[in-house]
Amino acid sequence: MLGKEASKAPLAPPSPDKRWRLIDATMRKHGYKPSTLIETLHTAQQSFGYLDEYALRYVAKSLTVPLSKVYGVATFYNLFRLKPQGEHTCVVCLGTACYIKGAAKILSAVEQTTHVQMGQTTADNKISLLTARCLGACGIAPAAVLDEQVIGNLTPQMIQDKLKQWTE
Ligand code: FES
Repeated sequence: MLGKEASKAPLAPPSPDKRWRLIDATMRKHGYKPSTLIETLHTAQQSFGYLDEYALRYVAKSLTVPLSKVYGVATFYNLFRLKPQGEHTCVVCLGTACYIKGAAKILSAVEQTTHVQMGQTTADNKISLLTARCLGACGIAPAAVLDEQVIGNLTPQMIQDKLKQWTE
């Protein structure tokens, strides 16, 4: 549990956008319990593509969870995004197994190729860079997820080639 149970009355959504109804439905289904936080943030991200300040505030108020807690959860889990996402996503694993096998070199190859740092999206909105703590693919470390496809045994050259394909 993340705190005391909220009142059952739904708040007015931040805008008339119908997607807020999906978020309301998720919270309503679980009686606006604070423990619904992660599932609600999931729904919000699926609906809008990322979690902006309006969404975080709305969810915090609706579930009576402190905004700081909502930010904490949204930033702790790599699956949540606080910014609009680029056309392609590159998630580089920085977990222990990947780190030992050279994840730092993969990371710097990615940053050199895209000219942005982890957590950022290229100016042309083509590529978003994210990091993960473990992708569950330690046996093929170093690994990354390129547009939802896990690729292992990466070399800096391999990942640079892939990223260049995205920008052509
Ligand atoms: S540490 Fe990278 S996949 Fe597990």
